[in-house]
Amino acid sequence: MIELAVNARGVGKTFPTKDGDVVALTEVELTVEAGEFVSLIGPSGCGKSTLLRLIADLDPASTGTLEIFGKPASQARVDQDYGIAFQQAGLLPWRTVAGNIALPLELHGMAKPARAARVAELAELVGLTEFVDRYPDQLSGGMQQRVAIARALAEQPRLLLMDEPFGALDEMTREYLQGELTRIAAETGAAVVFVTHSIPEAVFLSDRVVVMSPRPGRITEILSTGLDDIRDEALRESPEYFERVTAVREALHGIPVERANER
Ligand SMILES: Nc1ncnc2c1ncn2[C@@H]1O[C@H](COP(=O)(O)OP(=O)(O)O)[C@@H](O)[C@H]1O
Ligand SMILES: [Mg+2]
Repeated sequence: MIELAVNARGVGKTFPTKDGDVVALTEVELTVEAGEFVSLIGPSGCGKSTLLRLIADLDPASTGTLEIFGKPASQARVDQDYGIAFQQAGLLPWRTVAGNIALPLELHGMAKPARAARVAELAELVGLTEFVDRYPDQLSGGMQQRVAIARALAEQPRLLLMDEPFGALDEMTREYLQGELTRIAAETGAAVVFVTHSIPEAVFLSDRVVVMSPRPGRITEILSTGLDDIRDEALRESPEYFERVTAVREALHGIPVERANER
């Protein structure tokens, strides 16, 4: 039997506001297999962050059932089954790189020698071994984001939740970190749910791309990329890649782009 990192059945989320209810998400059916890389893509307001927050148990679902590794999201949270990284790296400025990576380990009472060993391992994983004594303001945006990824991976989660983690970075750094994330995901074997606005980014990283649409937020299409073992820089210039990018773009528009332009 295939183990499911995420299993969402009929999941919906409604926010009551003073101007009435906002249906942020409706009827979401989504599974993410253990070790699978899945991106959520769609225009602003289609419910990407809301879905990620439900998976992370930062908000309760209004309808449906949501299981993380076969348990309620709240239990998965307690069991530290997932790590989270957001667009803002959210590092503590008064702590070094090592201090920031160590934070979750400290909070959960890992003994000092084990902690130091784990921090060294994580710094190595994200390529920051030489920078462990630096402070966040001495790092580039891309390096800060790598610290955030290391911190999210500190407790060896089987699931990594990322909300536009590269959204504030320049294109070069962004592509570099996409390559790094591909490697890190493969090395750790963690499943990843990755929110992005970028079609090429979603295609490059993902086994499957989940296309969402707003008002009300829902999944309109799920595309498999089939790009399994060929995620290197050459992929970005390959016909297979352009084909997938086009397919996702068309799914986002709801109709083929060519015809959309003619209207
Ligand atoms: N706490 C909240 N209260 C009211 N409305 C919200 C809240 N959070 C999100 N929404 C609304 O839900 C919809 C989906 O938001 P969000 O998940 O942030 O979209 P995305 O991440 O795709 O841009 C939007 O219409 C947003 O305004
Ligand atoms: Mg968002």
